[in-house]
Amino acid sequence: MPSSPAFICSRDDANFEMERLRNEGLINSNLRPMEYGEKIAIPVTEGELLLDFEIVKKDTPFSQLGKIISNPPKKWERLGDMVIFPESTNTSQWPMAEVADIFNAEKLALQSTIDPGMERKSSLTLIHGNDGWIKHKETHVNYIFDATKSMFSSGNVTERGRMGRLDAEGETIVDAYAGVGYYTLQLLVNANASHVHACEINPVAIDALEKGLMENKVRQRCTIHEGDNRKTMRGLKGIADRVVLGLIPSSMNTWGLAVNCLKSSGGIIHVHMNVHKNELTEWSNKTADWFATVSGKKVTILHLEMVKKYSPNIHHVVLDLQFD
Ligand SMILES: C[S@@+](CC[C@H](N)C(=O)[O-])C[C@H]1O[C@@H](n2cnc3c(N)ncnc32)[C@H](O)[C@@H]1O
Repeated sequence: MPSSPAFICSRDDANFEMERLRNEGLINSNLRPMEYGEKIAIPVTEGELLLDFEIVKKDTPFSQLGKIISNPPKKWERLGDMVIFPESTNTSQWPMAEVADIFNAEKLALQSTIDPGMERKSSLTLIHGNDGWIKHKETHVNYIFDATKSMFSSGNVTERGRMGRLDAEGETIVDAYAGVGYYTLQLLVNANASHVHACEINPVAIDALEKGLMENKVRQRCTIHEGDNRKTMRGLKGIADRVVLGLIPSSMNTWGLAVNCLKSSGGIIHVHMNVHKNELTEWSNKTADWFATVSGKKVTILHLEMVKKYSPNIHHVVLDLQFD
């Protein structure tokens, strides 16, 4: 049995960690994860702990695809029962039902660049299946959305997980850019928030958010504020322990409104932003200073989370700021 560096995690976290490691390109997919005492050992490409793993013997989807189509794609992404291939994939000669069978999937789609407009509409094209609705499970949360109409960034899986691991017991939270519930559902299901006020402008995303709240049985702990958050957040003054500003490239339009949403005693704001890799410290300090000036409170930088690379030099980051 070949030796490989191993990443150890609890059974409960295994699916989440597999997804995260796969997204970061750190998983050794030739080897099979295995039990390690009470925990799970995942074969990875870097690390100090070396363990012996079994080789994965089954035919990979790539080799199976190679038997029925020429130039099979090397990359794809799975969301629920949908498999999504890169935009440039030529699928004109594909026997769709057979391809779907290989992945044990109901739906196939082609990725496209996400519309950079305010509503971040998905431009994914369905090439097999009845409709784009999918149920995607991530860290105990079921997300339900039409993938041809709403974006769902796989690269943000770590941030969704991080929001779920917060201890938000008893907190009232404003999610200023709720979308289909990326953070709202994590905060309600896993972080035990008392109530989330979810602001969202796009009716298609709101329909999906409603379905996700029902599916996860947390509808009663969420109020949806439909419309432009520059208007709706004005009605949420002084109520929040925490505000999530989950919009890139920038959420600056709502920075002042977010300060007003916080309780007079203070709280936490999570500021999403695309920042050049050489300007991370400078941007963090300047942002904290700006919030301190505007709020008149003591503002402390709790953490700068690196979510993903947006482009070679630009990182999607989240700055966690504490207001006292
Ligand atoms: C990029 S998506 C959410 C992404 C998600 N937070 C994540 O990181 O994966 C941003 C959402 O904010 C919504 N949005 C953008 N501008 C808005 C506004 N002014 N008021 C309310 N919602 C807005 C969009 O419709 C979209 O659903």
